[in-house]
Amino acid sequence: MSHNTIEENQRAQPLNHLSSVWLFGYGSLIYKADFPYLQRRPARIHGWQRRFWQGSHDHRGTPEKPGRVATLIEAPEKSCAGMAYEVTPDVFAHLDHREKNGYLRFFTEFEWLNSSGSVEGLVYVAGPNNEAFLGEASEAEIAAHIARSEGPSGPNSEYLLNLAAALRELDEQDEHVFAIERELLALGLGT
Ligand code: SIN
Repeated sequence: MSHNTIEENQRAQPLNHLSSVWLFGYGSLIYKADFPYLQRRPARIHGWQRRFWQGSHDHRGTPEKPGRVATLIEAPEKSCAGMAYEVTPDVFAHLDHREKNGYLRFFTEFEWLNSSGSVEGLVYVAGPNNEAFLGEASEAEIAAHIARSEGPSGPNSEYLLNLAAALRELDEQDEHVFAIERELLALGLGT
């Protein structure tokens, strides 16, 4: 599979017949909402865990020196908190471009974090078959990789540290993210 997923996402899932669509964000989409939205609400997705196993060629690294960013890995007993946004379908032109480096979107259910109820919406996941996938490594190795990576959107460490801060605000104990943060801070890469 090519790592540019724009066409694949638009072909697989035309959205223009819908008046609005919910989107679940679990990585930079939590703390960097560079798109208009109708409302946003903290939410949780079940059966997945957040992992820094995806390579970034276009935001926090380059094709020659990819950074490491978040994707979701299937984990039946786990869940992952994030931020859900209700957007109009035209916003997906921007989102598909932003998430083009290996992320495919699909509809799934997520539940509200602070109240009962759930909604069907889209989530972008970069699966193990995409060309930019880097896979598992220890949290110390991931931190060292992040520490030396940088791309058009800025230092890779900024992505990790912003995400850790956003997860604390959501009261989410993500040990994977917090362990990488500790390793990064030990390398002197705090803000
Ligand atoms: C997401 O945040 O939901 C996807 C990964 C990213 O853009 O960082």
